Amino acid sequence: MSTSFKTLVKNAKQVVLVCRNAEKYLTKNEMQSLAIIENGSVVIGHDGLIKAVGPADTIESQFKGTTFDQVLDVSGMCVLPGLVDAHTHPVWAGDRVHEFAMKLAGATYMELHEAGGGIHFTVEHTRSATEKHLLEELKSRLERMVRTGTTLVECKSGYGLDLDTELKMLRVINSAKKSLSIGISTTHCGAHAVPKGKTMEEATQDIVTVQLPVLKKQMASGELQVDNIDVFCEKGVFDLSSTRRILEAGKDMGLNINFHGDELHPMNSAILGAELGALAISHLEEVTDEGIAAMATSKTSAVLLPTTAYILRLSPPRARKMLDSGVIVALGSDFNPNAYCCSMPMVMHLACVIMKMSMTEALAAGTINAAYALNRSNTHGSLEIGKQGDLLIINAPRWEHLIYQFGGHQELIRYIIIKGEIVYE
Ligand code: NIG
Ligand code: FE
Repeated sequence: MSTSFKTLVKNAKQVVLVCRNAEKYLTKNEMQSLAIIENGSVVIGHDGLIKAVGPADTIESQFKGTTFDQVLDVSGMCVLPGLVDAHTHPVWAGDRVHEFAMKLAGATYMELHEAGGGIHFTVEHTRSATEKHLLEELKSRLERMVRTGTTLVECKSGYGLDLDTELKMLRVINSAKKSLSIGISTTHCGAHAVPKGKTMEEATQDIVTVQLPVLKKQMASGELQVDNIDVFCEKGVFDLSSTRRILEAGKDMGLNINFHGDELHPMNSAILGAELGALAISHLEEVTDEGIAAMATSKTSAVLLPTTAYILRLSPPRARKMLDSGVIVALGSDFNPNAYCCSMPMVMHLACVIMKMSMTEALAAGTINAAYALNRSNTHGSLEIGKQGDLLIINAPRWEHLIYQFGGHQELIRYIIIKGEIVYE
């Protein structure tokens, strides 16, 4: 064993591992009691990976005489895995604060969309924005996410709806990934809406025969890195057969299926996703019992987004029914110009209050299960030997303060560590 390591985080009041034994995800019963070490320490190596995690005295004797680049004594504080945000739309220009006022006055999400606002408004502004501007905005949003504990995030395109702008957005995500330490999973969401002037059939054809083939070439040449394919499967947007066509085309080129379904209307999206072996389906406010059963048997995860239900005053997704049925439940912020929230602690709090999840369930959903939804649970989402050294350290005597406190998390969070490096203190 090397005698020099990057970081020792020692004497934490609690170290919340979330899980051990390299579980890929947790279901309801395992989510009830997470693995926790009272008085613990964590060792991270120069490769950014966790080398040891255990009781403080055991680690102390095990590593006697070894040197560390940095030692953080976190007595009285709690260590958790970095949070994972499984669903965001963070690349866009032009906020929609005016629409928030309209929604407060009674306009629905779809009324605004059909009147040419909503996603269409953001598309117009994003198409005309420069790549430099979009990158600056994205970087500052991602830094904000890091400050509330997110160390891995899914980022979608989807405000271009044409080849050039979708590629521009994906390049922006790829550049942010290169220059920031936060982990990123990249999603092509060219089927986020039917662009003005096109029919759904034309838009579907454009994605399958124009956008995806170009993407495939750029992925093969190493110009772009993309992980997932997404479609907004919704009444008045993409129907089930267009959704199937686009998702199958994405899957054929090696992308993970991770799409929006059953949000405002029951669309049988969950049944389709389960059949296609989707890794994740987001929203699911209107999923049927059959859809839940299909997801439970297929191991397709449900990415629940309490911010959307809250802001649009929708009935929240039936998290309890999904958990009781054995569905893998994950969480995401859905950060976008409609749901302007980039804080996973706020999301976990809302998940507990409006979706009746327990705090342990919410933490598992915002760490290991969110990592599973992004196909990253072998490297992220829990504090286990060999996983990435991404840690969130809070100045509180019990880890639950992260979820119990409603806002003010920047004061609560003492350190954020990514790959053993302190990125915020
Ligand atoms: O996940 N529902 C579709 N897409 C986003 C909203 C995007 C937008 O309104 O700009 C969502 O909530
Ligand atoms: Fe979304």
